[in-house]
Amino acid sequence: MAIYNINEVFTPTRPARKNFIKRKPLDKRLQRALKTPGMQVVIYGHSGSGKTTLLLNKLKELNLKFVKTNCTANMTFDDLLSNVYIKLDKELPPKKIDKEKQVGGGKLSLATIASFNSSTTSENTTERSFISPFSSIELTLSKTIGEKESIWVIEDFHKLEVDVKSKLAQLMKVFMDLSDEYSKLKIVALGAKNTAREVVELDSEMQNRVSEIYVPLMNDEEICKIVENGTNLLNISAKEHVINDVVDHSHGVASICHQLCLLMCKSVDIDSTDEYDSGVELDFEDFNFAASEYIQQVSDTLKSAFQKAMKIPRSNEILSCLAENDIDGVELQDLVEYINENFDAVEITQTTLEEPLSKLSCADHGSVLMYNEQSENYSFKDPFYRLFAKLFLKESHKKKRLSASEVNKMFNQLILSAKRSYSNPSNNLANSTDTLFNDKSDIDDAEKLSNKWKKSQSRINRTTE
Ligand SMILES: Nc1ncnc2c1ncn2[C@@H]1O[C@H](COP(=O)(O)OP(=O)(O)O)[C@@H](O)[C@H]1O
Ligand SMILES: [Mg+2]
Repeated sequence: MAIYNINEVFTPTRPARKNFIKRKPLDKRLQRALKTPGMQVVIYGHSGSGKTTLLLNKLKELNLKFVKTNCTANMTFDDLLSNVYIKLDKELPPKKIDKEKQVGGGKLSLATIASFNSSTTSENTTERSFISPFSSIELTLSKTIGEKESIWVIEDFHKLEVDVKSKLAQLMKVFMDLSDEYSKLKIVALGAKNTAREVVELDSEMQNRVSEIYVPLMNDEEICKIVENGTNLLNISAKEHVINDVVDHSHGVASICHQLCLLMCKSVDIDSTDEYDSGVELDFEDFNFAASEYIQQVSDTLKSAFQKAMKIPRSNEILSCLAENDIDGVELQDLVEYINENFDAVEITQTTLEEPLSKLSCADHGSVLMYNEQSENYSFKDPFYRLFAKLFLKESHKKKRLSASEVNKMFNQLILSAKRSYSNPSNNLANSTDTLFNDKSDIDDAEKLSNKWKKSQSRINRTTE
C-alpha cells in the first residue's frame, strides 16, 4: 500500500498533485492549446477555481519546461523581464535600442517579426531599423526562452497596470512568430475573469491567436471526487452525508474542500495513510469540528471583508437579498426586484447596482461576493460568507451606528455563535442561523471565550506544523 502524508493529499494552499481531479473538457482544451505551436494561452477564472493546478499538472504530464513569473501590482515591464532572466540564470543584456528611435506607436507587423526570425544574433537585430515597440532585450529574452524550449507562465496577469498588460499582449505576437523557429515557445497568462478579454482588447491582432480557457468553479461532482479520492489515498472513508456537507460548504471552491477534509482528518487523528486498516470513517462530529475550526481560521479575513463591504453604498440591501435567497445566488434583475420590494428607498435599476456589485466582488473591497459567468448569478464568495452576512445583518439592524470597537466585539460574538452552531451536531449548516442568537450571553463573556478559543487554535496549528 502506498503511504501518503496528509499534506500531500489535502492541499488547501498548494496546487493539488496526488489528489488532482482531472476536469475532462478543460484538460483537453488546454492540451490542444499547449500543443499548437505559436498558440498563446490565457487561462482565466475566479480565484481558487484551479487555474494554476490545472496548468502545472498538464505541463508535467506533457513534460513541458516552463519559467514562471508571479505578477504583483506596480510591477513594470522591465521588472517582468528581469524576473525571467533571473529565473533563467542569465544576465540581463544591455538595452541596445534607444527608446526615442522606436517608431510605429507600438505596433509590430508580422513582416517585422519575419525579419527578426531571419536574423541570427541580437547584434544583427539591433542594427536594423524596423518598426518595433521592443528593444533587443525583449527579443533576446524571447529567443533565450525559445532556446531553452520553455514556456513563459505569467501568474496573476490581472494585477499588472494596463500599459504593462498591453506590452505583454504585444510580446505575445513576438512569441507567436518566433514559434516558427522554437516550436514550444509561448506565453501562458493566468488571471482573473477579465484577463482574456483584456489581452484581446489591448491588441486586436491577438484575436484568433490566443486560446482563451475559462476555468469555472468546480461542480458538485468534482468536489465530491476530491473527498472520495483523498479519503481513498488515506485508506479511510467518509459517510455520505459528510461528503454532501463538504460539497455544500465548498460552493465550488476546491481549497475550502481541501481545508475541511484536512481538518476532519485532524479530528480523527489521521496524518498519513492508515496502513493498519482501522476502518476510520468521517462522521458528523468531524465535519462540525472542521467547519467550526475553519470559521475560526478565516475569521479575520471575514471580519475585514465585511467591514470593507459595508462601506459601499447599497451593500446592505444587496447582502440582505443574497443572504435571504438561494445559496447559489441571484440574477441581477431578481436582485433589483427584491430590493425594490423590500426596501423603501428610491426605486433602483440594474444600472444602479452595477458599481456596488462590481465593488463587492473586487479584492480591494473584500470580495464578499462573486459573479458566476455560467449561471449569471451573484452570490456570496462561499457559504461561510453567507452565514456571516446573515448574522451580521441581523445584528447591525438592531443598532444603526456601531463604533469600531462595537463592530469588533460583535464579530467576536458572531464567530462564537457560528462556532457554537457547528459544535452542536444537531445544528446543521449555514441555514440554521435563526437559533444562534437565542443564547443571550453577554458580549464580553463571548469575547473571553473567543480568545480562549483562538489560543487553542494556535496550539492546534503548532502541533500540526
Ligand atoms: N483539479 C483539481 N483537483 C483537486 N484539487 C484542486 C484542483 N484544482 C485546484 N485544486 C485545489 O484548489 C485550490 C486552488 O487551486 P489553484 O490552482 O491555486 O486555483 P487558482 O490558480 O485558480 O487560484 C488548491 O487548494 C488546489 O489544491
Ligand atoms: Mg493561481
